[in-house]
Amino acid sequence: MKIVWAFLLVLLMAFPCHAALKTIGKSDKLTFDPTNFPPQMKSDWQIMKVKCVKCHTMERTVVSITTGVAPISGQPFDRGATRAYGVKMMRKPDSNMNKQEVKACVDLMNWMLEESAKQ
Ligand code: HEC
Repeated sequence: MKIVWAFLLVLLMAFPCHAALKTIGKSDKLTFDPTNFPPQMKSDWQIMKVKCVKCHTMERTVVSITTGVAPISGQPFDRGATRAYGVKMMRKPDSNMNKQEVKACVDLMNWMLEESAKQ
């Protein structure tokens, strides 16, 4: 019986009931792992992974989401700030992004912030 409980405990620890945000790679190769993203977030990711690495790597966004602090300015990076950062990036010269694409990235960042908080 004890073995069964021990086994259950190991299972519980190995599989948390919520899917936490996962990242892969290091430094300039650091990026999000979309494997467990729900379908809508997977399609937003298709946009983000192209649009948000034009001028800098995904590392900047991963650090912002996982630490809650924007790495260049040191400003808070939370749900209240994602839209402003998205719009700021869109307005940069040659950003090659439209409003729908920014919205997809902002929705995805908001969802990722929630997931990240569950860890
Ligand atoms: C046209 C170039 C360009 C594109 C495209 C771009 N960025 Fe940036 N990004 C910058 C520059 C330049 C900075 C550094 C200075 C600043 O924040 O204005 C920056 C900084 C950042 C920061 C750190 C901000 C801070 O205050 O520390 C984050 C987070 C970020 N970008 C996320 C994104 C996301 C998410 C996207 C896609 C929606 C994106 N970027 C697309 C140019 C770009």
